Amino acid sequence: MKTEKTYKIYGVFGYPLKHTLSPVMHETAFKKKGIKAFYLPLEQNKKLFQANLKSLKHSPLDGFNITVPYKEVVAKAVDILTPEAKTLGAVNTVYRKNNKWVGTNTDVDGFLCSLKKDAGFNPKGKKVLILGAGGAARAVAYGLAKEKAKTVFIANRTPKKARAVAEHLKKCFKTTGFMALGNSGEDLKETVASCELVVNATSLGLKKTDSLPISKSYIGKAKAQNKKLFFDLVYNPEKTVFLKAAREKGHRTMGGKGMLVYQGALAWEIWTKKKAPVLDMRRALDEALAENN
Ligand code: ATR
Repeated sequence: MKTEKTYKIYGVFGYPLKHTLSPVMHETAFKKKGIKAFYLPLEQNKKLFQANLKSLKHSPLDGFNITVPYKEVVAKAVDILTPEAKTLGAVNTVYRKNNKWVGTNTDVDGFLCSLKKDAGFNPKGKKVLILGAGGAARAVAYGLAKEKAKTVFIANRTPKKARAVAEHLKKCFKTTGFMALGNSGEDLKETVASCELVVNATSLGLKKTDSLPISKSYIGKAKAQNKKLFFDLVYNPEKTVFLKAAREKGHRTMGGKGMLVYQGALAWEIWTKKKAPVLDMRRALDEALAENN
């Protein structure tokens, strides 16, 4: 006799996963909306994860998230990719549709939601600078181009990687220009001065001892009518060295917590087809962060 599962099961795959805050956000949302579901941290090493991917068809999961370092491997394992996941070659959310697994990337819209709703910044027609050229930077660059930014500058310690990202995205977006740079030099200083938004998408800032992703001297003083927005994808600590330096010069700043909440809320909405209780998810995240710290 076949019995129907009473509880839905979701989870997040990654390695390591010790400090993941996704379970607390998602389970708070399930509870708030009276949905019978679990969200599990699924910490798996490469070998175990690869084996699980092979038997994805028979997985008891109803949907799942993927974090570092598996976003790229999952993009190759699912049945269908959404356009953003396909362009980025990275998936952070997977859901079922007609017995197939669909991979999408809610980091893109998670970033855009926070940029527009939390910071009130519309990238259309603007010059923007992204520091970093890894997975997070690619999602941000894609999002800014999707919103028709005028020019997206990508500055990275390894300029070759920035050039590869710029070349790839150029082929996908005709209304946005892409330029690659290194992470120091006069051209970068001038680019900072000419951009209205500067996003730190490097991993610098996670540790207290980390240096700034760009020289402090590149951040000029804000003019009354011309404040820039400095956005850091790092959410813990909330006041990163990058944001502190920008605030000292009088600019507006935004940390990465909003993006984390929105990317989770968007995944939750895809799975449940209900409106996510974003404020409750944010509160749960704040409490978990306070406890962790
Ligand atoms: P994520 O998935 O979070 O984007 P990632 O793909 O490993 O992580 O990318 C990390 C980014 O931070 C890269 O742009 C990396 O620069 P390199 O491409 O030169 O490695 C950048 N980064 C990491 N440590 C850095 C450091 N000490 N100085 C400057 N950039 C750094």
